[in-house]
Amino acid sequence: MTGTASQPTDAPLASIVRDRVVPVVPWVAPGMARPLADALAAGGLGALEVTLRFDGALEAIRAIGADGTGGVVVGAGTVLSAAQAEAAAEAGARFIVSPGISAAVVRRCRELGVPCIPGVATATEVMTALDEGLTLLKFFPAEASGGVATLKALAAVFGGVRWVPTGGIGAAQLADYLGLPQVAAVGGSWMVLRELLEAGRLDEVTRLAAEAVAAAGAAGAPTADRPGGAR
Ligand code: 3PG
Repeated sequence: MTGTASQPTDAPLASIVRDRVVPVVPWVAPGMARPLADALAAGGLGALEVTLRFDGALEAIRAIGADGTGGVVVGAGTVLSAAQAEAAAEAGARFIVSPGISAAVVRRCRELGVPCIPGVATATEVMTALDEGLTLLKFFPAEASGGVATLKALAAVFGGVRWVPTGGIGAAQLADYLGLPQVAAVGGSWMVLRELLEAGRLDEVTRLAAEAVAAAGAAGAPTADRPGGAR
């Protein structure tokens, strides 16, 4: 990719923006990765983020990225270094998510042609992201950083930014975040928790994904992106 590094119109990010929900996978056995992607797709989700926080994460990304998974877009999360971004992209990650903003990661992603979504929690971090040409940003850790109230305050200042609040968000908070006009999508692990996967509860994964998709549908498109919508 050339030019700006993280626009909502980048192809791999389009399904996140369309779905308005990003499942964040904290753990999955590599052998279950493709069935997990299929279970999420059955619930109506088109993308997932696999965190690089467990052994086998790259293997899981590779398994999902291989063809045959119904077009589910896989990205890598918890990317902390340029080397990790490179390894994730090599494994097939089509987008990169970080908990914070690192110029080294952002620039490596740009070189690799993989869009990235850095994490920000303060106005200064948002300005660093804007300096890098990034306007789709993860608000992280969302709940611990003040939740909807903090995000509203940041969104009021940075009108051009679209947000992916993540961290501590569950089904109960989803509608509140989706109701903010500047929120592109909400990330979280609540529908892909390790306990569910260890118990083989992919049926429950599908149910929770479908519930989140329904909540996103009820919230509608972000009004900031509608013609004449609120800013
Ligand atoms: C992440 O990596 O983005 C977070 O772990 C997701 O947060 P959650 O597990 O609180 O949903």
